[in-house]
Amino acid sequence: MTTHDFSDKVALVTGGSAGIGLATARAFARAGARVVIAARGVEAGRAACNAIMAAGGVASFVATDVRDEAAIIAAVAHARDAYGRLDLAVNCAGAGGDMAPLEHASQAVWDDVMAVNARGVWLSMRHEIPAMLAAGGGAIVNMSSIYGLAGRAAHHAYVASKHAIVGMTRSVALEYAARGIRVNAICAGVTATPGMRQAEAVVPEVVAGLVAEHPMKRMATEDEIAATALWLCSAGAGYVTGTPLAVDGGFLAA
Ligand SMILES: NC(=O)c1ccc[n+]([C@@H]2O[C@H](COP(=O)([O-])OP(=O)(O)OC[C@H]3O[C@@H](n4cnc5c(N)ncnc54)[C@H](O)[C@@H]3O)[C@@H](O)[C@H]2O)c1
Repeated sequence: MTTHDFSDKVALVTGGSAGIGLATARAFARAGARVVIAARGVEAGRAACNAIMAAGGVASFVATDVRDEAAIIAAVAHARDAYGRLDLAVNCAGAGGDMAPLEHASQAVWDDVMAVNARGVWLSMRHEIPAMLAAGGGAIVNMSSIYGLAGRAAHHAYVASKHAIVGMTRSVALEYAARGIRVNAICAGVTATPGMRQAEAVVPEVVAGLVAEHPMKRMATEDEIAATALWLCSAGAGYVTGTPLAVDGGFLAA
């Protein structure tokens, strides 16, 4: 599948115990990187590491809630302590929040979605970057969404948080472009993760409607999103920074 060689690299993946994050962690390991999975789900995180190691890869798990700065600091410190450096990070941890008309929307949901998606990515970069500078450079990919570049009715917190990710990706890219760190975002369309399959089981008409809005009329696979993250981290993307890259079956072309 992948032709990248990350055998001298250390990669950290937040939210790496499930869905797109897990697919990315596996793809990094297959490409030779040593991987730190920084995720909330302890059982799922350990299982992901064990599966990677059983397949001949190198991975470790650090229980990490990205709302907690100390946990992010510990995850980055683990990369340096266990593997000596941090070169690459894919910040996947994300919260969806509820869909609700504005006049019924909850401030608690707003605060939590912003804490995970916006502040979580900001805090992650804030601690990943010094470690990458110490390693002589690096690359970061932040998981935004088609809703980082387009609106969606009744999904304000998610949409605002994903736009925030695009904005901070551009700003941090500008800040570190001359210091060897590239920062990009993936604006993913609807992706066939376990979470999305669960939603499909509960509200099939909503998910079918979402898929129908994508010109390719199908979901992305987790591996298609992971492959883009790996490419953005690779030397082949060496002149790409500050870019929100749509991987969306044509959604944003409309
Ligand atoms: N699935 C999709 O259709 C889709 C589309 C566009 C963007 N995305 C984004 O991709 C990323 C991954 O989403 P997914 O669909 O693979 O999984 P998901 O939406 O089911 O869960 C996201 C991941 O983040 C983790 N997470 C949630 N809150 C966390 C916290 N406070 N601290 C640490 N980890 C936390 C979860 O455990 C999970 O691993 C998210 O940022 C999501 O917004 C997903």
